Amino acid sequence: MLSFCGPLAVIVILVAEVSTLVPPPENVTVSCNNFQTVVYWNYSEQHQHPLFDLKIKGDYLFEEISDIKQHHYDLSSLIWPAKELDNYFVNLTAKVGTEISTHQESIKFTFNKFKTAPIKCKLDFPAVNLSLKDGDIEVEFHNPYHLYPELKEVQNNKQFEYKVMHGNTPRPFKCTKTICQEPTSFVFMKEEQYCVSLEGMDGRLDFQRTGQICISPTEDDDQMKILSIILPMIFFVLIIILIRVIIIICKKNVQNEHFPKTLVLILTNPHDKNIMHLPQEIMSHISSIEPAISASQSLLDIQEDEDSPGTGYDRGHAPLQMDLEMGPGDVVVGYGHA
Ligand SMILES: *[C@@H]1O[C@H](CO)[C@@H](O)[C@H](O)[C@H]1NC(C)=O
Ligand SMILES: *[C@@H]1O[C@H](CO)[C@@H](O)[C@H](O)[C@H]1NC(C)=O
Ligand SMILES: *[C@@H]1O[C@H](CO)[C@@H](O)[C@H](O)[C@H]1NC(C)=O
Ligand SMILES: *[C@@H]1O[C@H](CO)[C@@H](O)[C@H](O)[C@H]1NC(C)=O
Repeated sequence: MLSFCGPLAVIVILVAEVSTLVPPPENVTVSCNNFQTVVYWNYSEQHQHPLFDLKIKGDYLFEEISDIKQHHYDLSSLIWPAKELDNYFVNLTAKVGTEISTHQESIKFTFNKFKTAPIKCKLDFPAVNLSLKDGDIEVEFHNPYHLYPELKEVQNNKQFEYKVMHGNTPRPFKCTKTICQEPTSFVFMKEEQYCVSLEGMDGRLDFQRTGQICISPTEDDDQMKILSIILPMIFFVLIIILIRVIIIICKKNVQNEHFPKTLVLILTNPHDKNIMHLPQEIMSHISSIEPAISASQSLLDIQEDEDSPGTGYDRGHAPLQMDLEMGPGDVVVGYGHA
């Protein structure tokens, strides 16, 4: 009986010793801001001088790091430069001599907005310069795809999308150049300070920039702003006035031309070839607007005509009114006999 209990007791003691001798690391946390990706952990039995082994695992990455003394490790060089924006986690074990602890897993982290991981890592929006040019606010910063060597393989076309916000109004922009420089064309009243905020809108990466960036205008800037608003208005008003003046002049001319100009031409220049030649008989009537009286028409007839206009009188004798086309667009009312 004793011979059986002896080895069992040794085994029990050994198992107990392994688990108490080398406990696993605790409180494994990951901090990932702006390419600095560091994993931290705690260890309860520091007097044992443990060494730590790390396994970094992603969908496209597997790295093993051994014999770390510190309670932190910088993973940045393993993750960047990246082509695939992966999600990762770290497995940690502690070892003392030949004894190894159990695994301790970190929670998952990623720089990719579309991957599911509890820790979403963020990149800083590059430093922004604000200026007032021609009364407009201009933002200027380095395109992060040119600025950060870590991102050289992430975006081949180097197109950076971002938005500039003033109040609740966002303006989206795209930039492929080394320096992104854009007038925001926000309409500002005269203000003590002009403030905007910027945000990256890039597909997979989250460029964060908290808070506003402000600029205080100088007197000159304010005058330029006011001029840039007022000058187009003055120009617009001038155009409207000009159009009105032209319309008024045109109307006046039309009224003046109501008396047929070709009639004037006929009277002043009757031999002009461009003017239709009318029989002398009609011409004589055109020069007189009065009803013509023929030689055969007696004075009595005319008096009858005046007494009963257009009733008992034979209309055949009445002066015939006719519209004569004198030229393009000119109609002359003439009178002749039936
Ligand atoms: C645990 O680790 C964190 C991060 O390294 C550190 O700030 C903290 O002081 C540690 N806690 C203990 C009890 O050692
Ligand atoms: C782990 O964190 C908890 C609370 O954050 C702390 O009480 C504990 O001491 C930490 N563990 C170690 C080994 O430092
Ligand atoms: C990580 O540790 C867990 C136990 O906590 C283990 O099951 C798993 O296989 C480990 N993964 C890797 C990649 O080592
Ligand atoms: C911002 O302005 C500073 C000082 O004028 C200048 O050194 C820096 O190059 C500018 N940055 C950008 C991105 O234009």
